[in-house]
Amino acid sequence: MYIDIKELSHKYSTADEDLLVLSDLSFSVGKEQFVSIVGPSGCGKSTLTKLIAGLSVPLKGKILISGSPVDSPRESIGMAFQNPVLLEWRTALDNICLPLEIVSPQMTRIQKIARATELLEMVGLKDFSQSRPSQLSGGMKQRVSLCRSLVHRPEILILDEPFGALDAFTREGLWKTLKDLKTSENFTCILITHDLREAIYLSDEVVILTDRPGKVKKSVKINFKRNSNSIDELYSKEATKMLAFLRKQIELSHTRL
Ligand SMILES: Nc1ncnc2c1ncn2[C@@H]1O[C@H](COP(=O)(O)OP(=O)(O)O)[C@@H](O)[C@H]1O
Ligand SMILES: [Mg+2]
Repeated sequence: MYIDIKELSHKYSTADEDLLVLSDLSFSVGKEQFVSIVGPSGCGKSTLTKLIAGLSVPLKGKILISGSPVDSPRESIGMAFQNPVLLEWRTALDNICLPLEIVSPQMTRIQKIARATELLEMVGLKDFSQSRPSQLSGGMKQRVSLCRSLVHRPEILILDEPFGALDAFTREGLWKTLKDLKTSENFTCILITHDLREAIYLSDEVVILTDRPGKVKKSVKINFKRNSNSIDELYSKEATKMLAFLRKQIELSHTRL
């Protein structure tokens, strides 16, 4: 498959103890698939994202992208987190341009602005390109953060609980935005989330992890019938059935989430 995670184990060592956080974890993600990962707090989800991004090296096991092992950070991966971490002294537009300044120095300023503006338009923030982060709402900041993670056209987008701090309505708006971005930009996505409706709305597959040390307990394909990209689809009979099934699988996998 496109991303192959094979028998991954990882531990953190401190002065007086070793903490095993992932143990023998394996799963695969097909090209342009959207996979969500759910699991209890502290089971190693953020650690897993860092390993896939090549920001740390696993204790055991392998991560292959298109068959080649991940052993260092890659330009072809974009990341966004719960905290959007925007630079206050830059405008929304210039925050989005930042990765291009690092990975595409050959692009002209005009080209960078055109690409960043295209994304700002897609997420509905065209009129806020000159705003500073402190002038934006939480949802708007997260939209800017999504644009920044996609500006260099990464093949893989890794999202670590990106909407966890937002209110329910803002969050639903961002699900729709992310779905539209996925349709137009064609990346492969790995999303860490605690929100099963979010997972169902966005994903092709949900991977359920066990308590720490995290390993795959079960994978569930999300294949209910949809008529559109509207959030309304979440309220269909099929979606509700899928949600109940997923909830049950998680209940069987662990006692807390
Ligand atoms: N850099 C680190 N050094 C030591 N322990 C860590 C480090 N990062 C995370 N941990 C510990 O590893 C476990 C898994 O962390 P994490 O991957 O962040 O879990 P999750 O994202 O699933 O909540 C937690 O117990 C956490 O305290
Ligand atoms: Mg985490």
